[in-house]
Amino acid sequence: MPRRKLKKLLEVRTFENVFDAKAENVEEELRRYLNNTERVALELGCGQADYSINLALLRPDKYFIGIDRKAARIWNASKNAEASGVKNAAFLISYIERLDEIFKTMKAEEIWITFPDPYPRRGSMKKRLTHPRFLEVYKKITAPGAIINLKTDDETLYEYTLSVIEEEKLKLIKAAGDLYAEENLSEEEKIRTKYEKMHLAEGKKIKLLRFSLD
Ligand SMILES: C[S@@+](CC[C@H](N)C(=O)[O-])C[C@H]1O[C@@H](n2cnc3c(N)ncnc32)[C@H](O)[C@@H]1O
Repeated sequence: MPRRKLKKLLEVRTFENVFDAKAENVEEELRRYLNNTERVALELGCGQADYSINLALLRPDKYFIGIDRKAARIWNASKNAEASGVKNAAFLISYIERLDEIFKTMKAEEIWITFPDPYPRRGSMKKRLTHPRFLEVYKKITAPGAIINLKTDDETLYEYTLSVIEEEKLKLIKAAGDLYAEENLSEEEKIRTKYEKMHLAEGKKIKLLRFSLD
């Protein structure tokens, strides 16, 4: 393993804004760090957490948690938050599949799924973060009326998610197949993640789906 990565893995769990799903009382610790809030917004598969950090800057009265299974990426997220002076965001090293074991008293009123791995092969469809098995997890950790946002460059994932929304009879709020061709985008919609910038540089169209689970 490269020395830089090893250093990150050894260091990351000592940061005050980083929490580990495997630790005891993780929800209690997270909640204490986030001013004892009951309501949060989550970024799933956050990588370096561009959405969590920029949303936290736009909305200083709200609380954000970026979640990723890769601890080295959470190291980057934590350092970026610190450099931006963000205090209302925390980062959780966790598998998304396990979130219902963690969030018992805190509920998400908003979820951002930002440029997830698209798993284009039919055989790996169950790994897509908008597969019904993940929606079941989201239902357990969200407040009534919670909004789910998916940003992707991937046409297959976009069309697949639209079909899940229809089949599961969820409420579609916005479907943009070419987000930046639309007018009047909100400041939230215009946040660009590391992966989004790479896709834009390759000339790909960015897509956004917004829906609620009830
Ligand atoms: C393509 S990257 C996108 C990173 C970031 N959202 C961005 O837009 O720059 C996908 C991220 O999702 C994380 N991820 C994928 N599946 C996951 C899972 N089941 N649980 C937690 N994190 C996951 C990966 O570790 C990776 O950091």
